[in-house]
Amino acid sequence: MHPADAVLSEIARQWAEPLARVEEEMWRVLTSRDERMARVLFSLPKGGGKRLRPLLVLLSAQCFQEEVEPAVPVAVCAELVHTATLMHDDVVDESPLRRGQPAAHSLWGNKIAILAGDHIFARAIDLLVALGDLRLLRAMSGMIADMGEGEIMQIFQTYDVNLKEEEYIERIRRKTALFLSTCCKMGALVAQAPERQVAALAEYGLFLGLSFQVVDDILDFVSDEKTLGKPAANDLRVGNLTLPVIYSLRQNGEGGVFIREAVAARRLDHENIAKIVEILKREGALEYAERVAWQYADKARRALDELPPSPAREALANLASYVVERSF
Ligand code: IPE
Ligand code: IPE
Ligand code: MG
Ligand code: MG
Repeated sequence: MHPADAVLSEIARQWAEPLARVEEEMWRVLTSRDERMARVLFSLPKGGGKRLRPLLVLLSAQCFQEEVEPAVPVAVCAELVHTATLMHDDVVDESPLRRGQPAAHSLWGNKIAILAGDHIFARAIDLLVALGDLRLLRAMSGMIADMGEGEIMQIFQTYDVNLKEEEYIERIRRKTALFLSTCCKMGALVAQAPERQVAALAEYGLFLGLSFQVVDDILDFVSDEKTLGKPAANDLRVGNLTLPVIYSLRQNGEGGVFIREAVAARRLDHENIAKIVEILKREGALEYAERVAWQYADKARRALDELPPSPAREALANLASYVVERSF
């Protein structure tokens, strides 16, 4: 196993019991009397996934209290919202694979993938309603609204060769980082953490999320379908310009000019994408993005200084390096 991925496995081993509770509760929520319907709801979670968001909820709660059970429904909610998001995302990104399996829309079509995603969203929110804590509901509904904006922003930004790095960062803040931040915040809230430490964990999650998405966007260029469980180089294929491309465009050297022309003319076939990946490697664009990812990971780690030392805080600190060094 890739050494960084082993870090996540080790944390998952240490927190195996609460994570097993999350799985158990998630299957309970995802049932349906209609067998075909149940299969639609089940299919994505059954395919695997890192369970990073529930882990963030659990670890954030355990920074403040031993008892982990109150955080379980919140962790389930987070993974279900993530599930729904991915069902919709693969429609939007026209991406046929997820977690090494056909995406929901590949199996059942766009209509079912979107409606099942909506259904799962609602069931997820219901878990927070049952807890009766408006702070959690407010955090989650605000985040979902921001995520939708981030996704729409990304559509408006496609093929935009003048896209600025700040605009890209603002997009990934909304579409990814605020979710991870909300997971940490909700974990701290269920554990009745003091306000200042709730804010510290929210900040940790935000920087972790920025780092996470920058790396997701690097992996899209350097990894393969087998490792990722989703198609590689898919972002560029659909005109989604990410940090390495923005960097090369800004350098405006020979490579940058080639990318500008290919993107503007929307000539992003297999051959041109391969050429662009070569350019990104040659011009240090991937290293640049990796440096940015490390900067965010360092900021995430520093936000943890506000918290009392604990095994959970230690695990969160390790996750900050994991997100940059991971292979999928
Ligand atoms: C994928 O998230 C979506 C992004 C925000 C990049 P993950 O990489 O956490 O997906 P799974 O749950 O492990 O499949
Ligand atoms: C995942 O984003 C969905 C959201 C963050 C809303 P991406 O489209 O960048 O992630 P992958 O690469 O498909 O997992
Ligand atoms: Mg997407
Ligand atoms: Mg996608």
